[in-house]
Amino acid sequence: MSTSTSRQIAITEYTRRDRHLVSDILFRNYNVHTHIDWQEAEKWLETPDAIIRLAWQYGRLIGVLAAAPPLGGTTWLRIAGISDNADAARVFDILWNAVHKELITRQIHLVAVLMIRDWLIPLITPHGFTCREEVITLRRADQPPLVGESLPGLTIRATQPTDLVTITQVDQAAFEPPWQLTGDEVREAARVSAYCAVALRNEQIVGYQASTMYFDGSHLARLAVSPQAQGTGVGAALLGDVIRRFSRRGVVSMTVNTQLSNTRSQHLYERFGFQRNGYDIPVWMVNL
Ligand SMILES: CC(C)(COP(=O)(O)OP(=O)(O)OC[C@H]1O[C@@H](n2cnc3c(N)ncnc32)[C@H](O)[C@@H]1OP(=O)(O)O)[C@@H](O)C(=O)NCCC(=O)NCCS
Repeated sequence: MSTSTSRQIAITEYTRRDRHLVSDILFRNYNVHTHIDWQEAEKWLETPDAIIRLAWQYGRLIGVLAAAPPLGGTTWLRIAGISDNADAARVFDILWNAVHKELITRQIHLVAVLMIRDWLIPLITPHGFTCREEVITLRRADQPPLVGESLPGLTIRATQPTDLVTITQVDQAAFEPPWQLTGDEVREAARVSAYCAVALRNEQIVGYQASTMYFDGSHLARLAVSPQAQGTGVGAALLGDVIRRFSRRGVVSMTVNTQLSNTRSQHLYERFGFQRNGYDIPVWMVNL
């Protein structure tokens, strides 16, 4: 089963029968990183084409490192977990070398990681990762109700399953790597959304949004507009629509994440009364 060994640490590829051991590592240890979005780590492990390597010592699982299926030559480190009793730096180095080899084979040129907790920093720094971006959070609350206004020639309706392929194309055209979503991620975003809508102009989908609900608030999980349609009010129309829809259900607070460098989206959110709430997550990246 071993594909390589180094001073009694054996590296293998993840298989489905390892899932309980991996869950155990992620649940029981401090040295754990799981990417935050709408996908739970345990379910994400079954993602086709994910790059997942396990580290074993004397038959015991001591570490896991996983990168998302590549998109646009880029990927995210989605999962890292190292047993608290192990030498974290050594285990990480061995896991990274195994993952890195596969990343090169798949012609990945950029790897990103959301730095939710700092324990990974000293482990990834020797491999060339640097902090290059922040994911920021903005929140809208205590705002006067939005007046309904429609944009001539633009229709907004709830997403249908047949829209998902086009929505994925819109998403991948609107965002640069590594921020794009795969088709599976778009499907999962739509599935867990409380409200997912598309904007149509001349019967063509030109934008979409997906929003989730939690407790008594909502979260705009995704908003994207086709590059050709940007700057013509589509983003504002989708945002106004989702805010009004949740308000009618008594949900008046909404959060959204965006990149610190994405001033255009921040401008739009600020226009609708969103303000930064200080919850920022650094994004570390390395070019391979
Ligand atoms: C950010 C994004 C969603 C904004 O959507 P958009 O449709 O381009 O935004 P809008 O057209 O509604 O508003 C953008 C600008 O167009 C202007 N505008 C609005 N209606 C307009 C109209 N009818 N005609 C011309 N311009 C108009 C607005 O004034 C606004 O300018 P300002 O915000 O600088 O004052 C879009 O640019 C996008 O998909 N970007 C890439 C993905 C992304 O960053 N998503 C959000 C972050 S998670």
